[in-house]
Amino acid sequence: MAIFNYQTKSMITRNRVKCAEFRKLSSFPFWDLPFPSYTSDNSHLFFHFVLFIHILTNCSLFISGILVDPGEMEKKMLLHLTILILGILSSSSMVKAEDPYKYFTWTVTYGTASPLGVPQQIILINGQFPGPKLDVVTNDNIILNLINNLDQPFLLTWNGIKQRKNSWQDGVLGTNCPIPPNSNFTYKFQPKDQIGGYTYFPSTGMHKAAGGFGAINVYARPRIPVPYAIPAGDFNLLIGDWYKSNHKGLQQYLDSGRSLPFPDGILVNGQTRTTFSGDQGQTYMFRISNMGLSTSFNFRIQGHKMKLVEVEGSNVVQNMYDSLDVHVGQSISVLVTLDQTPKDYYVVASTRFTRKILTSVSVLHYSNSQTPVSGPIPAGPTYQVHWSMQQARTIRWNLTSNAARPNPQGSFHYGTITPTRTIVLSNSANLINGKIRYAVNGVSYINADTPLKLADYFNIPGVYSMNTIQMSPK
Ligand SMILES: *[C@@H]1O[C@H](CO)[C@@H](O)[C@H](O)[C@H]1NC(C)=O
Ligand SMILES: *[C@@H]1O[C@H](CO)[C@@H](O)[C@H](O)[C@H]1NC(C)=O
Repeated sequence: MAIFNYQTKSMITRNRVKCAEFRKLSSFPFWDLPFPSYTSDNSHLFFHFVLFIHILTNCSLFISGILVDPGEMEKKMLLHLTILILGILSSSSMVKAEDPYKYFTWTVTYGTASPLGVPQQIILINGQFPGPKLDVVTNDNIILNLINNLDQPFLLTWNGIKQRKNSWQDGVLGTNCPIPPNSNFTYKFQPKDQIGGYTYFPSTGMHKAAGGFGAINVYARPRIPVPYAIPAGDFNLLIGDWYKSNHKGLQQYLDSGRSLPFPDGILVNGQTRTTFSGDQGQTYMFRISNMGLSTSFNFRIQGHKMKLVEVEGSNVVQNMYDSLDVHVGQSISVLVTLDQTPKDYYVVASTRFTRKILTSVSVLHYSNSQTPVSGPIPAGPTYQVHWSMQQARTIRWNLTSNAARPNPQGSFHYGTITPTRTIVLSNSANLINGKIRYAVNGVSYINADTPLKLADYFNIPGVYSMNTIQMSPK
């Protein structure tokens, strides 16, 4: 790992075990780290724990019994054997309730497309741009073999998936070794107690600028009610700024010390114009994500109000909105009832906080409509920062609604926690060796040769230090 220290203007390099060396060790368990096996509730784990304790006590009793007191031993053995058998029975009946496994094989390749009218190199997954939609249910075990056929190392990150107990599969260079060209890696993860609309995208290089991203929908288990009527259908809208130059061109641009240029357009699901069709009178869920690199957008549908029901996997207080700001990386879900006269309506996303405004116009088509879109494209906020802040403040958790579990989530009493340490962070952008480097409290980050999570997991010393960053900016 190398850290550039802005105070001393020196590069601290601490190379230990690099990814390539990890891979050379055939006995090294990196590709097969223990997969955390959860089931729907923790009593299962507790039973295994009880079982384990009984096996331990039985063994020790057996040994000590032979040596010390055969008479007592027999009685104790019988008791413990009974508990052991009960334990095995209850445990095996629980194992049957294990959450379903879903298997995927995804191949990443280059392709050519002309989303903005000029042919450009894009990144495909199984031949698709955007990549395949990952439709799963809370607690599904996902086994996803990702084959990298690009000419560069590649990783996908699962944005918003908590990766509980297996954060080394989060798919960023700080946690995973990149997948080298022409090789593969099998992600194993579980959206444990999660619901909602999420996305995945490449975390390496500027690959996200070329595609390789897609939607993740985590549906609630059938026995867990969602706090709204089940919609007639749902649409994923992957909306983002887009550049005509490919990922390598953009990387060269940044490496030459310039900042990211202004985007050339906005794409919705890989196209400049998409049509969403529904039946009059029905309610549909629109899962909207900002897949862009740099630009926030405002989203609105002509003549229709949106009921915000879910934000980043949390059920929220259900307010109505005419338009909503979505910032880079964010995902929101709204319900829209097709309660207007049968016609086609504009679906608009326009850039926020930009001098020049890019607008993408798609279509909401009523299945009984004979009338194309008409009228002015509905206007949205452009530079109003305060408006955006005010709107963000209206998005609140619904603390009485369940999420992925029947009981309301979260039992922290934040007000009663005494702060022990206050950390003040300040960001900056500097030109270092001719390249723009962003920093937090004067320290910039360079991808480690040894992913930090692996260093942590395998106790590899010297890869990172907990004291690199000052607690407050200088
Ligand atoms: C690579 O893919 C093959 C099947 O194509 C699979 O058997 C193997 O386990 C995968 N390797 C990794 C590291 O995921
Ligand atoms: C919160 O969720 C509950 C349960 O679904 C619902 O009854 C209630 O109306 C919601 N509250 C708000 C303010 O949206």
